[in-house]
Amino acid sequence: MSVEAETALAERARTGASTLKIEQCGAYLGAKVTGIDLSKPVSDAEIAALAQAHAEHGLLIFRDQDMSASDLIAFGKRFGPLTVHPFAPNAGGATPELITFRNDENNPPFGTDCWHSDETFRVATPMGTMLRATDVPAFGGDTMFASMAAAWDGLSDRMQHFLSGLEAWHDFKVFKPLFGESAEGRKRLREFEDIYPPTLHPVVTQHPVTNRKVIFVNPQFTVAIKGMDEAESQALLKQLYELALTPEYQYRHHWKNNTLIFWDNRSTQHYAVHDYFPKRRYMERVTIGGTQPLAAFEPADLKLVRNRKARKPDSFQGQYAGHAPKKAGDGKAY
Ligand code: SIN
Repeated sequence: MSVEAETALAERARTGASTLKIEQCGAYLGAKVTGIDLSKPVSDAEIAALAQAHAEHGLLIFRDQDMSASDLIAFGKRFGPLTVHPFAPNAGGATPELITFRNDENNPPFGTDCWHSDETFRVATPMGTMLRATDVPAFGGDTMFASMAAAWDGLSDRMQHFLSGLEAWHDFKVFKPLFGESAEGRKRLREFEDIYPPTLHPVVTQHPVTNRKVIFVNPQFTVAIKGMDEAESQALLKQLYELALTPEYQYRHHWKNNTLIFWDNRSTQHYAVHDYFPKRRYMERVTIGGTQPLAAFEPADLKLVRNRKARKPDSFQGQYAGHAPKKAGDGKAY
């Protein structure tokens, strides 16, 4: 950091002059961050506030961030070491951690139109991902997010109890077609399978910052539930994948150039909507490494059987918001 930047930071720390503002903008996930310029030095206190907000809100949206790829890498590194994605297109050279999605008429998007949390084929899965729009279409190309903590909270206690303690296998199945059918391709695939063998993660994890429980299986990388018959495993996984489709658990983002989103891979999933081809959508991404997901220990309380999404106390009256079968004066139904 330059002497001027250090002096400016020290001055902000001394006077407590941070203008950082974090405002929730989605019911279950999402917060807008203003009062910060990510092309300039960010103080440790601001990083700590952002790390906490990231865990609590699941995703942070920073608009109007005119910054370079090196600024993005530097900002990402403030939250932990960056991963180098073994399959995604990257900048190469000295910055292989920078993923460059450059989709246009000559390069249709691939693989991201499937609900997932990033890189769960790893033993230690990423804590977060930063994605920044550099050249995006006026419409189309949104990214959808789902809170998998809200999805857990919406399950009945019977279902929560059933899921607690299960584990699922994850692997990089979506990228296997990249190796092709040639003998050389199959040999390379086997090498990658040795580096990234299928890995087991709890089906229900505990978020290391918020302690919330989270459904941690995704259709892009999860292949089976350990110890279940294949038909049972596939039926259960399908049911769990469908939780991300619940509109109440979602936040949908329409991109503008220079917007950066920092999402929490420990509690959310995302889906890139591939409706913009052949228009151009250029994005830059860095992924922040994390730790091995923790299992949630406490089994659910079986005393109550709750309803999905709406958790109203048993005593709550009028849960149909005024809807009722009407009766005519003579006692006949309309
Ligand atoms: C991703 O899955 O990392 C890409 C998301 C996007 O392009 O919107």
